[in-house]
Amino acid sequence: MADTITLEVFRYRPDEASEPVFQSYEVPLHKDWVILDALNYIKDQLDGTLSYRWSCRMGVCGSCGMMVNGKPVLTCAAFVEKYAPGPVRIEPLENFPVVRDLIIDMSDFLHKLKQVKPWIIREEEEAPDKEYLQTPSQLADYKPYSMCINCMLCYAACPVYGLEPDFVGPAALALAQRYNMDNRDQGNRQRMEALSHDHGMWQCTFVGDCSAVCPKNVDPAGAIQRYKVETATHWWKNLLLPWGKDK
Ligand code: SF4
Ligand code: FES
Repeated sequence: MADTITLEVFRYRPDEASEPVFQSYEVPLHKDWVILDALNYIKDQLDGTLSYRWSCRMGVCGSCGMMVNGKPVLTCAAFVEKYAPGPVRIEPLENFPVVRDLIIDMSDFLHKLKQVKPWIIREEEEAPDKEYLQTPSQLADYKPYSMCINCMLCYAACPVYGLEPDFVGPAALALAQRYNMDNRDQGNRQRMEALSHDHGMWQCTFVGDCSAVCPKNVDPAGAIQRYKVETATHWWKNLLLPWGKDK
């Protein structure tokens, strides 16, 4: 096996050129290197102008997501060796505007997260000294949806978001479910109002690519289908039993 590999890196510097280009770099092919190590090598040894995001280097902060050979991955968890003999193409996450090189503009995603009200909503506050109890099985029910690290890989993989940028999208919908299913929360109705509109959950066509690329096994596709079933059940109950309106 060769001891180097070529990375073809997407470069976009709007202050210098209006169109992006690919720039090739030869980097060492170390067994224990991930793509992020190779990018750090480029930055430190070959070309300090390369811009990209990263922080934790351990799959926790969610900031190092990029397209590697066309697939959205966390670059701190993708071993370079897997892509040998190369070349390996590194691009910014798909479906987002690019600010510079491999850095995308996250503002649309942050706006959508806020829309789903990802916090515990209480209609009535209990006495300040009262605890909100939760059994282990109640916790287990929503826990997978709470593992999201906001890496946006699911948005880069989602064909619906690619075509309809107004779609609320996988991670935000999974997060809505995380709070809806929390027994301490009473905000289901508020979220349902926010998410039943044209760009809410019903736009999802259940392709499932979001769940396939998720590095934390959140299964946003499953969360969305579950949300749809609950919303439809709620609607039918209110239609058939109007005297005992479902809360
Ligand atoms: S649901 Fe998964 S892929 Fe989507 S932002 Fe959260 S961790 Fe990333
Ligand atoms: S650097 Fe934090 S998830 Fe990759």
